[in-house]
Amino acid sequence: MERLNSDNLRIAVQSSGRLADDSVALLQGAGIDFDAYSRKLFASARNFPIEILFVRDDNIPEYVQDGVADLGIVGRNLVVERQVEVDEVLSLGFGHCVLVIAAPRGGPIATVDDITERRIATAYPATLARYLNERGICASIVETAGATELTPALDVADAICDLVSTGTTLRVNDLAPIDTVLASEAVLIAHRGSRVDAHERDINRLLLRLRSLLAARQTKYIMANAPVDALPRIRSVLPGLRSPTVMPLDDEGWVAVHAAIPEETFWDSIEALRESGASEILVTEVEKLIQ
Ligand code: PRP
Ligand code: ZN
Repeated sequence: MERLNSDNLRIAVQSSGRLADDSVALLQGAGIDFDAYSRKLFASARNFPIEILFVRDDNIPEYVQDGVADLGIVGRNLVVERQVEVDEVLSLGFGHCVLVIAAPRGGPIATVDDITERRIATAYPATLARYLNERGICASIVETAGATELTPALDVADAICDLVSTGTTLRVNDLAPIDTVLASEAVLIAHRGSRVDAHERDINRLLLRLRSLLAARQTKYIMANAPVDALPRIRSVLPGLRSPTVMPLDDEGWVAVHAAIPEETFWDSIEALRESGASEILVTEVEKLIQ
């Protein structure tokens, strides 16, 4: 049986739920080697001084605030709701969802103006209270611990404030979104003390690995052939990390152009590249990108 080594960094991740698999995949993608198949309370990495704690997501903000864990991977929605004193270090690019106000489709509540003096059920009372306050809306908050989407049908509430990711839960319960309270994704949070104590160095090593993985996920590597006289136009449409790499081809008058481009504008770059005269465009994934 592995043992918690108190010198090691500790990172808390969700044991099961929407962020669980992606959190493990992120750490493993960053080269941290550990067994996650059983999601026992914790696992020790074989090649990095870190323990992975598998816990309920609801506990992660407080664990990190109190230093039970140095780091945590959790939805921003929970960090905001708990108003914990932690540092948000990185946005992780998965677990996107929105906290919305929603109400029964075709019912009396169709816009934000209609929620005045109504009952709104939520597991996010602090976030909802702030939202109502900022807009000067007076409504009563019904606190739930789960299954919030059922409360209008049970006449426990008139509307809900809950997380939506695919939208399935709202659709199945015949609820329609009315307004967005908060946009959320998975974030890496850090205990305030850990970033200045003996763990600082290992946290920075881990951060470099996570950042390189995240940067790589957002980058494509492309190779294309082009006539030499198309180069000025190609240079102007290809962002690249610095500038594209240009190599002469055997075929005189032709060059090969290599560049790393952001995933976000990938298709725009490809179209512009084709219009500039490039052809035989080859695209590959980037595994790591260290900057
Ligand atoms: C949220 C929310 C909904 C569901 C919405 O719960 O409370 O039930 O997800 O997702 P959908 O739009 O994809 O249908 P979550 O999975 O976060 O579980 P938890 O609140 O029990 O942690
Ligand atoms: Zn939860």
